[in-house]
Amino acid sequence: MIEKLSSIGNFIGRTPLVHLEHPTVDLYAKLEFHNLMGSVKVRPAYYILKSAIESGRVTQDTTVIESSSGNFGIALATLCKRLGIKFIPVIDPNINPSYENLLRSLSYRVEKVEERDKTGGFLLTRVQRVNDLLRDIPNSFWTNQYGNIDNFNAHYKGLGTELAEHFDELDYAFVGVSSGGTISGVSRRLKDKFPNVRIVAVDSVGSVIFGTPPKKRYIPGIGSSMVPDILREAVIDEVFHVEEVDTITGCYQLFEDHCIFGGGSSGTSYYAIQQYFKDKIFEKRPKVVFLCPDGGTPYADTVYNQDWVQDIREKNSVQIQS
Ligand SMILES: Cc1ncc(COP(=O)(O)O)c(C=O)c1O
Repeated sequence: MIEKLSSIGNFIGRTPLVHLEHPTVDLYAKLEFHNLMGSVKVRPAYYILKSAIESGRVTQDTTVIESSSGNFGIALATLCKRLGIKFIPVIDPNINPSYENLLRSLSYRVEKVEERDKTGGFLLTRVQRVNDLLRDIPNSFWTNQYGNIDNFNAHYKGLGTELAEHFDELDYAFVGVSSGGTISGVSRRLKDKFPNVRIVAVDSVGSVIFGTPPKKRYIPGIGSSMVPDILREAVIDEVFHVEEVDTITGCYQLFEDHCIFGGGSSGTSYYAIQQYFKDKIFEKRPKVVFLCPDGGTPYADTVYNQDWVQDIREKNSVQIQS
Protein backbone atom coordinates (compact mmCIF):
# COMPACT_ATOMS: atom_id res chain seq x y z
CA MET A 1 0.00 0.00 0.00
CA ILE A 2 2.79 2.41 0.92
CA GLU A 3 4.42 1.91 -2.51
CA LYS A 4 1.15 2.77 -4.25
CA LEU A 5 0.77 5.89 -2.13
CA SER A 6 4.40 6.94 -2.55
CA SER A 7 4.07 6.72 -6.33
CA ILE A 8 1.93 9.87 -6.28
CA GLY A 9 4.14 11.71 -3.80
CA ASN A 10 5.72 13.51 -6.77
CA PHE A 11 2.46 15.36 -7.37
CA ILE A 12 2.35 16.75 -3.86
CA GLY A 13 4.34 19.72 -2.55
CA ARG A 14 7.22 21.74 -3.99
CA THR A 15 4.64 24.24 -5.26
CA PRO A 16 5.69 27.54 -6.90
CA LEU A 17 6.48 30.52 -4.70
CA VAL A 18 6.09 33.67 -6.78
CA HIS A 19 7.24 37.21 -6.11
CA LEU A 20 4.51 39.82 -6.71
CA GLU A 21 4.80 43.53 -7.46
CA HIS A 22 3.45 45.54 -4.52
CA PRO A 23 3.71 49.24 -3.58
CA THR A 24 4.72 48.81 0.07
CA VAL A 25 5.80 45.25 0.85
CA ASP A 26 8.02 42.57 -0.64
CA LEU A 27 5.20 40.15 -1.39
CA TYR A 28 5.28 36.41 -2.14
CA ALA A 29 2.44 33.99 -2.91
CA LYS A 30 2.73 30.23 -2.45
CA LEU A 31 0.58 28.65 -5.16
CA GLU A 32 -0.81 25.59 -3.41
CA PHE A 33 -3.34 24.99 -6.18
CA HIS A 34 -0.48 23.37 -8.11
CA ASN A 35 -0.84 20.32 -5.84
CA LEU A 36 -2.57 17.10 -6.91
CA MET A 37 -6.35 17.74 -7.07
CA GLY A 38 -5.74 21.47 -6.92
CA SER A 39 -5.38 22.24 -3.24
CA VAL A 40 -3.17 22.39 -0.16
CA LYS A 41 -5.39 19.76 1.49
CA VAL A 42 -3.77 16.86 -0.33
CA ARG A 43 -0.71 17.45 1.88
CA PRO A 44 -2.46 16.45 5.15
CA ALA A 45 -4.56 13.80 3.38
CA TYR A 46 -1.37 12.11 2.14
CA TYR A 47 0.50 12.45 5.41
CA ILE A 48 -2.38 11.24 7.61
CA LEU A 49 -3.00 8.18 5.42
CA LYS A 50 0.70 7.39 5.16
CA SER A 51 1.26 7.45 8.89
CA ALA A 52 -1.95 5.47 9.56
CA ILE A 53 -0.82 2.79 7.08
CA GLU A 54 2.68 2.68 8.59
CA SER A 55 1.27 2.22 12.10
CA GLY A 56 -1.09 -0.53 10.87
CA ARG A 57 -4.19 1.51 11.71
CA VAL A 58 -5.27 1.58 8.05
CA THR A 59 -5.14 -1.66 6.05
CA GLN A 60 -6.55 -2.81 2.73
CA ASP A 61 -9.89 -3.58 4.49
CA THR A 62 -10.31 -0.26 6.28
CA THR A 63 -13.12 2.18 5.54
CA VAL A 64 -11.85 5.74 5.80
CA ILE A 65 -14.41 8.33 6.98
CA GLU A 66 -14.20 12.11 7.07
CA SER A 67 -16.47 15.09 7.48
CA SER A 68 -15.62 17.26 4.50
CA SER A 69 -17.60 19.05 1.82
CA GLY A 70 -14.49 20.38 0.19
CA ASN A 71 -10.86 20.04 -0.69
CA PHE A 72 -9.92 17.61 2.07
CA GLY A 73 -12.68 15.21 1.01
CA ILE A 74 -11.63 15.40 -2.65
CA ALA A 75 -7.99 14.77 -1.71
CA LEU A 76 -8.83 11.80 0.53
CA ALA A 77 -11.22 10.33 -2.04
CA THR A 78 -8.48 10.46 -4.67
CA LEU A 79 -5.84 8.86 -2.46
CA CYS A 80 -8.22 6.14 -1.20
CA LYS A 81 -9.25 5.39 -4.80
CA ARG A 82 -5.58 5.01 -5.67
CA LEU A 83 -5.09 2.65 -2.72
CA GLY A 84 -8.23 0.66 -3.55
CA ILE A 85 -9.78 1.27 -0.11
CA LYS A 86 -13.27 2.46 0.81
CA PHE A 87 -13.86 6.14 1.56
CA ILE A 88 -17.07 7.72 2.91
CA PRO A 89 -17.17 11.53 3.00
CA VAL A 90 -19.87 13.15 5.14
CA ILE A 91 -21.13 16.23 3.29
CA ASP A 92 -23.89 18.81 3.70
CA PRO A 93 -26.27 20.77 1.43
CA ASN A 94 -23.85 23.74 1.18
CA ILE A 95 -21.53 21.65 -0.96
CA ASN A 96 -20.57 23.06 -4.33
CA PRO A 97 -22.51 20.83 -6.86
CA SER A 98 -19.41 19.99 -8.91
CA TYR A 99 -17.63 18.85 -5.70
CA GLU A 100 -20.57 16.63 -4.86
CA ASN A 101 -20.42 15.05 -8.34
CA LEU A 102 -16.69 14.52 -8.01
CA LEU A 103 -17.01 12.97 -4.55
CA ARG A 104 -19.78 10.67 -5.77
CA SER A 105 -17.50 9.53 -8.63
CA LEU A 106 -14.45 8.93 -6.44
CA SER A 107 -15.90 7.62 -3.17
CA TYR A 108 -17.30 4.28 -2.07
CA ARG A 109 -20.38 6.01 -0.68
CA VAL A 110 -21.41 9.58 0.21
CA GLU A 111 -23.37 10.51 3.37
CA LYS A 112 -25.25 13.81 3.16
CA VAL A 113 -26.64 15.36 6.35
CA GLU A 114 -29.66 17.66 6.05
CA GLU A 115 -30.18 19.12 9.58
CA ARG A 116 -28.44 22.30 10.75
CA ASP A 117 -26.60 22.32 14.08
CA LYS A 118 -27.13 24.75 16.99
CA THR A 119 -24.76 27.32 15.42
CA GLY A 120 -26.86 27.35 12.23
CA GLY A 121 -24.18 25.48 10.26
CA PHE A 122 -23.76 21.78 9.50
CA LEU A 123 -20.37 20.97 10.96
CA LEU A 124 -21.58 19.55 14.27
CA THR A 125 -24.25 17.46 12.54
CA ARG A 126 -21.59 16.11 10.21
CA VAL A 127 -19.32 15.17 13.11
CA GLN A 128 -22.26 13.38 14.77
CA ARG A 129 -22.83 11.38 11.55
CA VAL A 130 -19.12 10.48 11.45
CA ASN A 131 -19.38 9.10 14.98
CA ASP A 132 -22.47 7.04 14.02
CA LEU A 133 -20.61 5.59 11.04
CA LEU A 134 -17.52 4.79 13.13
CA ARG A 135 -19.77 2.90 15.56
CA ASP A 136 -21.59 0.97 12.81
CA ILE A 137 -18.76 0.10 10.39
CA PRO A 138 -16.13 -2.37 11.60
CA ASN A 139 -12.48 -1.46 10.87
CA SER A 140 -13.33 2.16 10.10
CA PHE A 141 -10.88 5.03 10.51
CA TRP A 142 -11.64 8.72 10.99
CA THR A 143 -8.88 10.90 9.55
CA ASN A 144 -10.20 13.71 11.82
CA GLN A 145 -8.59 16.78 10.29
CA TYR A 146 -9.71 18.95 13.23
CA GLY A 147 -7.90 16.90 15.85
CA ASN A 148 -5.32 14.66 14.19
CA ILE A 149 -1.78 15.72 15.07
CA ASP A 150 -0.66 14.46 11.64
CA ASN A 151 -2.56 17.39 10.11
CA PHE A 152 -0.11 19.60 12.03
CA ASN A 153 2.87 17.35 11.17
CA ALA A 154 2.03 17.40 7.45
CA HIS A 155 2.27 21.19 7.35
CA TYR A 156 5.22 21.47 9.73
CA LYS A 157 7.30 19.09 7.62
CA GLY A 158 5.86 19.95 4.20
CA LEU A 159 4.60 23.45 3.50
CA GLY A 160 6.28 24.98 6.58
CA THR A 161 9.68 23.55 5.64
CA GLU A 162 9.35 24.61 1.99
CA LEU A 163 8.67 28.18 3.11
CA ALA A 164 11.38 28.20 5.78
CA GLU A 165 13.97 26.90 3.33
CA HIS A 166 13.10 29.42 0.66
CA PHE A 167 13.59 32.60 2.71
CA ASP A 168 16.69 34.03 4.41
CA GLU A 169 14.47 36.43 6.30
CA LEU A 170 10.72 36.74 6.68
CA ASP A 171 8.63 39.36 8.49
CA TYR A 172 4.99 38.29 8.01
CA ALA A 173 2.99 35.21 7.03
CA PHE A 174 -0.76 35.52 6.35
CA VAL A 175 -2.54 32.16 6.66
CA GLY A 176 -6.25 31.39 6.23
CA VAL A 177 -7.74 29.12 8.91
CA SER A 178 -10.37 26.39 8.85
CA SER A 179 -9.27 23.11 10.47
CA GLY A 180 -6.22 24.98 11.77
CA GLY A 181 -3.78 22.40 10.41
CA THR A 182 -2.04 24.74 7.98
CA ILE A 183 -1.50 27.58 10.41
CA SER A 184 -0.40 25.23 13.21
CA GLY A 185 2.32 23.50 11.21
CA VAL A 186 3.41 26.52 9.18
CA SER A 187 3.54 28.92 12.16
CA ARG A 188 5.62 26.57 14.30
CA ARG A 189 8.06 25.77 11.48
CA LEU A 190 8.48 29.44 10.52
CA LYS A 191 8.94 30.54 14.15
CA ASP A 192 11.67 27.90 14.56
CA LYS A 193 13.70 29.60 11.83
CA PHE A 194 12.47 33.21 12.14
CA PRO A 195 11.50 33.83 15.80
CA ASN A 196 10.34 37.37 14.99
CA VAL A 197 8.09 36.53 12.05
CA ARG A 198 4.54 37.76 12.68
CA ILE A 199 1.92 35.13 11.99
CA VAL A 200 -1.40 36.68 10.97
CA ALA A 201 -4.35 34.29 11.06
CA VAL A 202 -6.97 35.23 8.47
CA ASP A 203 -10.57 34.23 9.19
CA SER A 204 -14.05 35.05 7.86
CA VAL A 205 -16.51 37.20 9.79
CA GLY A 206 -19.10 34.73 11.12
CA SER A 207 -16.56 32.00 11.90
CA VAL A 208 -16.27 31.18 15.62
CA ILE A 209 -12.63 30.01 15.60
CA PHE A 210 -11.29 33.08 17.40
CA GLY A 211 -14.23 33.73 19.69
CA THR A 212 -16.32 36.08 17.53
CA PRO A 213 -20.09 35.51 17.06
CA PRO A 214 -21.43 33.09 14.46
CA LYS A 215 -23.06 34.34 11.26
CA LYS A 216 -24.17 32.48 8.16
CA ARG A 217 -21.25 32.12 5.74
CA TYR A 218 -21.40 31.14 2.07
CA ILE A 219 -17.77 30.77 0.95
CA PRO A 220 -16.16 27.42 1.81
CA GLY A 221 -12.52 26.68 2.73
CA ILE A 222 -12.06 29.37 5.34
CA GLY A 223 -13.64 29.72 8.80
CA SER A 224 -15.38 27.16 10.96
CA SER A 225 -18.39 26.79 13.23
CA MET A 226 -16.27 25.12 15.92
CA VAL A 227 -12.86 25.74 17.47
CA PRO A 228 -10.50 23.08 16.12
CA ASP A 229 -8.39 21.15 18.69
CA ILE A 230 -5.36 21.25 16.40
CA LEU A 231 -5.23 25.03 16.68
CA ARG A 232 -3.65 24.58 20.12
CA GLU A 233 -0.40 23.89 18.29
CA ALA A 234 -0.43 27.22 16.43
CA VAL A 235 1.62 30.29 17.34
CA ILE A 236 -0.50 33.24 16.24
CA ASP A 237 0.39 36.91 16.73
CA GLU A 238 -2.70 38.55 15.26
CA VAL A 239 -6.10 37.64 13.85
CA PHE A 240 -7.62 39.50 10.90
CA HIS A 241 -11.32 38.97 10.10
CA VAL A 242 -12.62 39.59 6.59
CA GLU A 243 -16.28 39.99 5.50
CA GLU A 244 -17.30 37.66 2.67
CA VAL A 245 -18.05 40.60 0.35
CA ASP A 246 -14.43 41.66 0.87
CA THR A 247 -13.22 38.12 0.15
CA ILE A 248 -14.87 38.52 -3.26
CA THR A 249 -13.14 41.88 -3.75
CA GLY A 250 -9.81 40.26 -2.76
CA CYS A 251 -10.28 37.44 -5.30
CA TYR A 252 -10.92 39.91 -8.14
CA GLN A 253 -8.03 42.17 -7.06
CA LEU A 254 -5.64 39.21 -6.95
CA PHE A 255 -6.66 38.28 -10.47
CA GLU A 256 -6.49 41.84 -11.82
CA ASP A 257 -3.21 42.76 -10.11
CA HIS A 258 -1.29 39.50 -10.61
CA CYS A 259 -3.30 37.18 -12.85
CA ILE A 260 -3.63 34.69 -9.99
CA PHE A 261 -6.96 32.91 -10.30
CA GLY A 262 -7.42 32.00 -6.65
CA GLY A 263 -10.15 30.47 -4.51
CA GLY A 264 -11.94 32.19 -1.63
CA SER A 265 -9.22 31.90 0.98
CA SER A 266 -6.55 33.24 -1.43
CA GLY A 267 -8.65 36.36 -2.00
CA THR A 268 -9.34 36.66 1.73
CA SER A 269 -5.63 36.72 2.57
CA TYR A 270 -4.86 39.12 -0.29
CA TYR A 271 -7.59 41.50 0.90
CA ALA A 272 -6.29 41.25 4.50
CA ILE A 273 -2.78 42.17 3.32
CA GLN A 274 -4.04 45.26 1.44
CA GLN A 275 -5.92 46.48 4.51
CA TYR A 276 -3.24 45.57 7.03
CA PHE A 277 -0.42 47.46 5.29
CA LYS A 278 -2.33 50.39 3.83
CA ASP A 279 -1.47 52.93 6.55
CA LYS A 280 1.82 51.43 7.71
CA ILE A 281 5.17 52.99 6.88
CA PHE A 282 8.41 50.98 7.06
CA GLU A 283 12.06 51.97 6.74
CA LYS A 284 12.69 48.72 4.93
CA ARG A 285 10.01 46.93 2.93
CA PRO A 286 8.88 43.93 4.99
CA LYS A 287 8.97 40.45 3.45
CA VAL A 288 5.44 39.04 3.43
CA VAL A 289 4.17 35.65 2.31
CA PHE A 290 0.61 34.43 1.86
CA LEU A 291 -0.93 31.20 0.64
CA CYS A 292 -3.19 30.47 -2.30
CA PRO A 293 -4.66 27.19 -0.95
CA ASP A 294 -6.82 26.47 -4.00
CA GLY A 295 -7.63 27.91 -7.42
CA GLY A 296 -10.66 29.76 -8.75
CA THR A 297 -12.27 27.09 -10.93
CA PRO A 298 -14.31 25.45 -8.12
CA TYR A 299 -15.74 28.93 -7.42
CA ALA A 300 -16.95 29.50 -11.00
CA ASP A 301 -20.60 29.27 -9.84
CA THR A 302 -20.08 31.43 -6.75
CA VAL A 303 -17.28 34.00 -6.31
CA TYR A 304 -16.76 34.27 -10.08
CA ASN A 305 -20.47 34.32 -10.94
CA GLN A 306 -21.90 37.86 -11.07
CA ASP A 307 -25.48 36.81 -10.17
CA TRP A 308 -24.27 35.01 -7.07
CA VAL A 309 -22.03 37.94 -6.12
CA GLN A 310 -24.96 40.36 -6.47
CA ASP A 311 -27.05 38.13 -4.22
CA ILE A 312 -24.33 38.00 -1.51
CA ARG A 313 -23.90 41.79 -1.66
CA GLU A 314 -27.66 42.26 -1.16
CA LYS A 315 -27.76 39.79 1.75
CA ASN A 316 -24.80 41.58 3.32
CA SER A 317 -26.33 45.05 3.00
CA VAL A 318 -29.56 43.79 4.62
CA GLN A 319 -27.49 42.41 7.53
CA ILE A 320 -25.58 45.68 7.93
CA GLN A 321 -28.83 47.74 7.93
CA SER A 322 -30.61 45.48 10.45
C1 LIG B 1 -9.34 26.65 0.09
C2 LIG B 1 -8.88 26.46 1.49
N1 LIG B 1 -8.19 27.44 2.09
C3 LIG B 1 -7.79 27.33 3.37
C4 LIG B 1 -8.07 26.22 4.12
C5 LIG B 1 -7.66 26.21 5.56
O1 LIG B 1 -6.76 25.24 5.87
P1 LIG B 1 -6.80 24.48 7.27
O2 LIG B 1 -7.97 23.55 7.23
O3 LIG B 1 -5.50 23.77 7.31
O4 LIG B 1 -6.93 25.51 8.35
C6 LIG B 1 -8.79 25.18 3.52
C7 LIG B 1 -9.16 24.00 4.28
O5 LIG B 1 -9.99 23.22 3.88
C8 LIG B 1 -9.19 25.30 2.18
O6 LIG B 1 -9.89 24.33 1.56
